[in-house]
Formats: sequence, C-alpha cells, structure tokens
Amino acid sequence: MIPLKRRKVISSVIRNSSGDSKFPGVVIFLLGRKMGASRRAFLSRLGRGKGFNIQDSFSQSITHLISENNSWKEVWTWLDSQTGGQGREEGECRTAGPSSVHLLDIMWYTESMQVSRPVAILDRHKLQERDEPGTELAVVSLPSYACQRHTPLLHHNTVLIDALSILAENAELSENEGRGVAFRRAGALLKSLPQEIRRVEQLRGQPCLGDHSLRVIKEVLEDGVCCEVETTKESRQFKAMKALTGIFGVGAKTADRWFREGIHTPSDLQRSGHNLNRAQRAGVQYYDDLNQPVRKAEADAIGLIVEKAVSEVLPGAKITLIGGFRRGKETGHDVDFLITHPEEGREEGLMAKVVSWLEAQGFLLYHKTTRNSYLESKDGPARPPSNMDRFERCFSIFRLSTENERRITQTISAQSTLLHSRTEPSPQTNDQAREESSMLSQCSGSRSWMAVRVDMVVSPYSQFAFALLGWTGSKLFERELRRWAVHERAMTLSSHTLYDSTKRQYLRANSEEEIFALLGLEYIPPCGRNA
Ligand code: UTP
Ligand code: MN
Repeated sequence: MIPLKRRKVISSVIRNSSGDSKFPGVVIFLLGRKMGASRRAFLSRLGRGKGFNIQDSFSQSITHLISENNSWKEVWTWLDSQTGGQGREEGECRTAGPSSVHLLDIMWYTESMQVSRPVAILDRHKLQERDEPGTELAVVSLPSYACQRHTPLLHHNTVLIDALSILAENAELSENEGRGVAFRRAGALLKSLPQEIRRVEQLRGQPCLGDHSLRVIKEVLEDGVCCEVETTKESRQFKAMKALTGIFGVGAKTADRWFREGIHTPSDLQRSGHNLNRAQRAGVQYYDDLNQPVRKAEADAIGLIVEKAVSEVLPGAKITLIGGFRRGKETGHDVDFLITHPEEGREEGLMAKVVSWLEAQGFLLYHKTTRNSYLESKDGPARPPSNMDRFERCFSIFRLSTENERRITQTISAQSTLLHSRTEPSPQTNDQAREESSMLSQCSGSRSWMAVRVDMVVSPYSQFAFALLGWTGSKLFERELRRWAVHERAMTLSSHTLYDSTKRQYLRANSEEEIFALLGLEYIPPCGRNA
C-alpha cells in the first residue's frame, strides 16, 4: 500500500507523463539512443507543454517513434529488441497501421513544436531504409530561388555558413558583387536545409552551390577549417576594410582609397587629417557604439520614441518595425522603421516634422533626410528595379538614454510578460545584461546613453505593402524576389510597385500576401526571409 501523500505525487506524475492529449491518435515516444537523457527530457517537457501525448516508455500504444541521428536500420533493430520481433517483417513499421508506428526523424518533432500541432508526415520526415545515420542525402532538392523557400534564423550549418560569409564579405568589400552573391546564395541554401551536413556528397543535386563554394564546404567538413577563409580573415586588407567600412558614412570605395594610402584604422584616419563629411565625422565620433550590435530591447525602446514623435506630429500615422528585427533577429546593426498614413497624401512632409520633434527633444545626434524622388509617371518600369531608396528617408543616429531604455524595457517586458507569460524570456535577463553593461561603462568612465543607428522611411499608403516587403529584407531575399519577378514572371518589382511587362500594367496590392500571390509564389512570412 502506498501512503496517501506519495500516492498523490505518483498519480500526478503519471498524469503528466501520459498527459491529456490535445491530439488524439498521436502518441509519441522519443528514442533516447544518441539523443541523450537531458535533451530527451527537455524535448518531452516542451511537447507536453504544447499538449502532445509523450510517453516515457515504449508500448503498443505508440504511434510516432522519434529519433535523432539514428538510421532506419538502427531504430528498427532497437524496436525489434523491444517487441521481440513479434511476427513483424522488416519494413512493416514504416507505415502506420493499427499496431504499427511511424519511424520519424527529429525534424518532424521540431517542426510540430514550432507550429504547436502535429505536422503532416512527409517523405523527408520518415527514416529511409537505405540511409546511413547522419549521412543521408539532403532530403529533396530545394528550389533554387531563396524566395521559394523558408530560410529560418536558426539553422543547422552555422560553421559552414560562417566560412562562406567571410568570403562573401571579402568579395563585397572588394566590390566583386557577383562573387559575393554567389557565396551568399550558397550560404542561404545551407540555411534552408533541415539537417546538419556532414559529408559534401549529401549536397548532391542541390542548387546554388558553385564549385568554389563546394570546395570551401568540403574543406571545412574534412579539415575543420578552410585555408582560404583563414587567410582572408587574417589578411591586413580584409581587417582594414572591415574596420574602415565600419565607420558610418564610409563605403567600400572610400575605404579602399584610404587603405592604399596606408590608413588601416579609424585612429589612422583621425591622425591623417583627412577632410571628412558630416556623416563620417559622426561615424568616427560614435564608432564604438555604432559597432556594438543593437539589441531588440533597444530597438523596442526607440520604437516607442519614434511612435510618440509620429503621433505628436500626425495623429493616425502608423509606424512599423522593419529590417532584421521584423524577421525575428535578436540584434542588428541598426533599427529600421516604415511610416505611413492611411489617408494617401497625409504623409507628405511628415519626415521633416518627425525629425524636428525628435531633435527638439534631444534624441538625435545626427540626421540626414533625403526627399521622396519617386514618381511613377516619370520613373516608369524602365528604371532599374533595384531602386529601393527613393522614398523620403532619414538616416540618423539616436541618442538613447540607457537609463530611459532600461525603464522602457521594463515596461515593455512587463507588458509582454502579461501577454506571453510562457514564451517570452524572463525580463530579468535583459535587465541583468543591461545592468552589467552599464556597470562596465561606468567603470570605464563612460556615459549613461548610447548612440544607435536608426533608419526611417515614409511611404504613401498605396505603396505601403511594397515598401514593407522591400524593407523587411534580407538583402539576398529581396534580390532573389526581384530576380524571380524578372526571369520567371516578366515582372519588375521594387519597393514602390510591381509592373507586369506582358500586360504592360502596374499590379496593385494591399498586403505582402497579395504581392507573393501576384508573383506566383507561396507566401513566406518575415521569419522565413533570413536568406
Ligand atoms: P538593413 O541594411 O538595415 O539590413 O536593411 P537588416 O536586414 O535590417 O540587417 P541588420 O540587422 O540591420 O544588420 C534592411 C532592409 O531594407 C532594405 C533592404 O531590403 C534591407 O534588407 N533597404 C536597405 C533598402 O531597400 N534600401 C536601402 O538603401 C537599404
Ligand atoms: Mn537593419
């Protein structure tokens, strides 16, 4: 007889682990083999939290057997040892029947977690009889345009992508755009893959991978590093070009000229006595701050300030956080906002007023506004489709009080804790980080504010959907959308419009979804545009 107190504990444990399932007919078992106990426990908790029925031990009631880094053969052998091979033929357990079970890769589980319901079982989720563990061909061949696939922020091939990104960056700094794009496309393809690549053969049949990229990938997989990448990272030119283009207002051309004159760092530049323009002077002055990644909490704090400015000068106008933060990034090199007003025309002259308000309140360390130079009747589709910066736009550097930011962050965190008490990270995490960095800056005799780059763009309401799509990025995703439009649809896409060359007419749209549909593409949400 179990004492009453203990009986209660035990029955609650049993209830939790068998769970009241939200999804009848789905009974999951996570195979511990190669997964490890703590990861298994973590994944089980995650699943139960979302209403899945996860069983701790294997039984006849299991419908979905999930494993990680196991081959079909390994799982089958394990399964056989559990059931004593009760009259089952090899292969039978691949299809679900009354007493059979789906043998699935962890991919099915993580995808189901992402959408909080069991996703449909596709071929790529199933363990295949012919595969060796961890070296199977990379599922099906992916579509070649990045705008045809989901590119998540978190992916499985960081080391390979980091290597390709160095070479892409070096090509961009050397103004070899074509080469840069080739490496970026290869990296984006790897980001879309649902699994980690261990052998270059797994990439057979995949698009976007040129000989050069494949060579780099192979070397990293076999030797741990790629010689060309290491040499590039250590090269004086690459280091200097990175340091100099890290100055706000300095592009690759200027940096290259300075490098040839022996200027390698911002300090060299200051000593050189070169005449700098206003943007570059601000860039040198706030160099350290502007080369720190901007965090989401800081972006949110600036968002509240810009929102206040906008609502003061034009009630009814709305602002949207765009760029990397809209794609779900936790950090960025700047913060981007798109501003519009539902009544077409009311947005004219808005930027000047917003800037004046911000300046009067002491929020701006630097700003430069460019006028809206887009005129459909004048520009027409003959213009290159990459005209993306012709809205009224303000490049600025904000003075963000770190005290203020902490207070605002607390308010935002408190609000979001109420709204998403289960999914948001603890507000203390941000505060602790801020506390630490503010202590550091105090130790180094620094100040209670930070400089942050902020880009603001104003669009007429009728162009809002195009502007939103164009300014959400990533840069490669945008490039791929435009390339798709031209080559596959004979259309010209910009941040202002979509022009159909066959019908010889502009196509209007009120949402991003409509633009994807007009382009004949499946809708990819912002979080899937991290190409
Ligand atoms: P960003 O350069 O800010 O990139 O441009 P990002 O993706 O937000 O990255 P981080 O986090 O700041 O480093 C945002 C998007 O705005 C568009 C591009 O599509 C880019 O992806 N953009 C940017 C333009 O259309 N024109 C420009 O002149 C600059
Ligand atoms: Mn940005």
